[in-house]
Amino acid sequence: MAGAAVMDSLGADLGRALTGGAVVYLQGELGAGKTTLVRGVLHGLGFAGHVRSPTYTLVEGYEFGARRLYHLDLYRIRGAEEMEYLGARDLDDSKLWVFAEWPERGAGRLPAPDLLLNFELREPSRRIRAEAHTARGRELLQAWLTGEGRGKGSRQAKKAKS
Ligand SMILES: Nc1ncnc2c1ncn2[C@@H]1O[C@H](COP(=O)(O)OP(=O)(O)O)[C@@H](O)[C@H]1O
Ligand SMILES: [Mg+2]
Repeated sequence: MAGAAVMDSLGADLGRALTGGAVVYLQGELGAGKTTLVRGVLHGLGFAGHVRSPTYTLVEGYEFGARRLYHLDLYRIRGAEEMEYLGARDLDDSKLWVFAEWPERGAGRLPAPDLLLNFELREPSRRIRAEAHTARGRELLQAWLTGEGRGKGSRQAKKAKS
């Protein structure tokens, strides 16, 4: 797919398809569009604010009523201690939406993925391969592709302390 706007819109479709909690891994080289997709997810969930890349903070959190989304970027993480500091174990909560860039650097401490997205840079375009790893992941992928989400409805979105 070509263009960051297309990636944003694809992400928004995924955001609208999110219902129960989910763990999504985003793999692929720097510049492949992982953060752009998560930005779209947040837009699809109704978040209208600025979406910072968690490049330096490692994690950014967002609240949607009772639900939370954590956006992680583990590119710069150093070792398991920093993962502890991140409270990686709290991420294993079935009510959370976790979107993790560079999950392979999570030293085995991230919850297992429901959905794995692999991004490939093919300038000027991008390619994403999606793999569902659980029943929940298959449902999510299905809802994403068919547009059968819950919709953004009356969700209230705000930035959470991360
Ligand atoms: N589908 C796309 N086609 C063209 N450019 C894109 C696409 N998706 C993202 N980009 C651009 O690629 C650059 C890197 O995107 P980013 O999401 O930060 O990558 P990553 O998080 O994988 O490192 C940004 O300038 C973004 O606008
Ligand atoms: Mg990124």
